[in-house]
Amino acid sequence: MSEATVIDGKAFAAKVREGVAGEVAALKAARGVVPGLAVVLVGDDPASQVYVRGKGKATLEAGMESFTFRMAGTSSHDEVLARVEALNADPRVNGVLVQLPLPGQIDERAIVDAVDPAKDVDGFHVVNTGRLATGLDATVPCTPLGCQLLLRDRLGADGLKGAEAVVVGRSNIVGKPMAQLLLRDHCTVTVAHSRTKDLPAVVRRADIVVAAAGRPEMVRGDWIKPGATVIDVGINRIERGDGKTRLVGDVRFDEAVKVAGAVTPVPGGVGPMTIACLLANTVAAARRQHGAPEPD
Ligand code: GUN
Repeated sequence: MSEATVIDGKAFAAKVREGVAGEVAALKAARGVVPGLAVVLVGDDPASQVYVRGKGKATLEAGMESFTFRMAGTSSHDEVLARVEALNADPRVNGVLVQLPLPGQIDERAIVDAVDPAKDVDGFHVVNTGRLATGLDATVPCTPLGCQLLLRDRLGADGLKGAEAVVVGRSNIVGKPMAQLLLRDHCTVTVAHSRTKDLPAVVRRADIVVAAAGRPEMVRGDWIKPGATVIDVGINRIERGDGKTRLVGDVRFDEAVKVAGAVTPVPGGVGPMTIACLLANTVAAARRQHGAPEPD
């Protein structure tokens, strides 16, 4: 059997980012508005620092303003809340993102829900979550949105209709919103997780697999139905054996590529799409806040 198509998320994300840069330029020309994204990072988690730096750089490259607020890991709940409230009130800021996870002394849910839903470019606010679940217009979380764009590009709208989709992982950031997006695209959706009985058998039913369990290389080649489309959301750093580390997904890539119809690599698959979708959510938020029309 021939090897799977390796989905080039980096190239697709570059196209999305080009489109966003065009929208930013148009908004500036028509209204004199430069969209701004504020990112709040509490503490010094190394992975979060890398993500936050990447988000700031991409924001500037799209022609937008970037504001990064680094707060001590010992910050109190009220200090973080005050920062979010200041950003809600700042007219230069159209999008507010609080990098998760937050240190234990902070009530994460309360902070997420303190962000103005109109500025909630993560789509994590309970209002946006509820709107997505009820089929209303909503800001959609960036990672599942990126997965949806890759799936639609690969399969076409008709390719998703009626397909069996299995999402592995039930997080608020990826698994649950991903399931909602797949439902909106008329898939038959199963959300599986660490307590699912006979997980390999459940995954084997899937025409579409979205692996978002946070477990390195958990999904093996013999879990995958031949020809399935496999989207790997995992980003796990593992020991290589020679003292160095490497990034792997939640899917055992070398096995999956022999069975699947298409598979995303790690790195270079879903990761770049997440940032591209954050930029898209930010320019859309700025447009709405300024009453500008949606582009064609
Ligand atoms: N931590 C891991 N992924 C994300 C994300 O998409 N947004 C935020 N705010 N924090 C995260």
